Amino acid sequence: MADARDLKPSPRHPRKGGGPSPAPSLRKRVAVLISGRGSNMTALVEQALGYEIVLVASDKPDAPGLAWARDRGIPTLALSGRDLGKPALEAAVLAGCAKHDVQVIALAGYMRLLSSTFVAMMRGKIINIHPSLLPLYKGLDTHARALAAGDKEAGCSVHLVTEELDGGRVLGQSRVPVEPGDTPDTLAARVLRAEHTLYPRILAEFCMTPLDRIRSVALQLPESEERESHGQPTFSVAGELFAQLHADDAKPIVRVRTGDPTGWNAMDLSGDPDWAVVEDRIARSWELAAPARLLEAGGR
Ligand code: GRF
Repeated sequence: MADARDLKPSPRHPRKGGGPSPAPSLRKRVAVLISGRGSNMTALVEQALGYEIVLVASDKPDAPGLAWARDRGIPTLALSGRDLGKPALEAAVLAGCAKHDVQVIALAGYMRLLSSTFVAMMRGKIINIHPSLLPLYKGLDTHARALAAGDKEAGCSVHLVTEELDGGRVLGQSRVPVEPGDTPDTLAARVLRAEHTLYPRILAEFCMTPLDRIRSVALQLPESEERESHGQPTFSVAGELFAQLHADDAKPIVRVRTGDPTGWNAMDLSGDPDWAVVEDRIARSWELAAPARLLEAGGR
């Protein structure tokens, strides 16, 4: 699980060789499903990096977010869930997604449970933002429940969508303090501000290819540099290799140092790797390769 760390390179260690954001054609094509105001959808559009919003669909034809998207020239789908019923509504959403070559669906205040058929058709490609620190407070009234429980902090989670309500794997979270005198509304406003930063960042990570993601992790480590060797990206610090990619589309692999001075381990990045583990192994490999002066300066 990614945590709320900022994956951007720090100014102290500017990113070298990472290159610009992918060309438009390489960006993942994302549909956003809303039911109302759409402030998270707005944040996803305005902070899009590595993905593009190619469709905004709503189960409520008068959702304010639809007008905002339409005004910006984003294709919209204004559907009435009440008139259509769930099967026809979902069929229309899927048809819209097919028409716009959608690869990922981001739910942003979409107030309907997706059917298991819909989830199965897009398995692993639907994400949602929920205004609580999951697994706490699945479902509605999260802020009132956090206050009633006397919680000292609240927050939001971006998670994979499965058949279970707010139950899929958590991809990232942001925490905010609960302040004395908070009401559900004041707490919701504070959490919403955190949502607007978290969601675009996690969606961008989610849309990265394994190579993009390894590059983003490796190049934020101090004095990390990327080179090509035998056509494959490699990462080194002060001339010592610490990560090598074999970016075969079918089975991307990253090799990292092990504790043994000559040892290397290969991690398979196909499927659904645990990125927290991958990131940690790359950082440990960097530590094994980095010169003493960098470790003494505080390391990674
Ligand atoms: C957000 O709090 C989100 O976490 C929840 O519904 C709300 C939608 O707000 N799923 P908006 O429509 O994005 O402004």
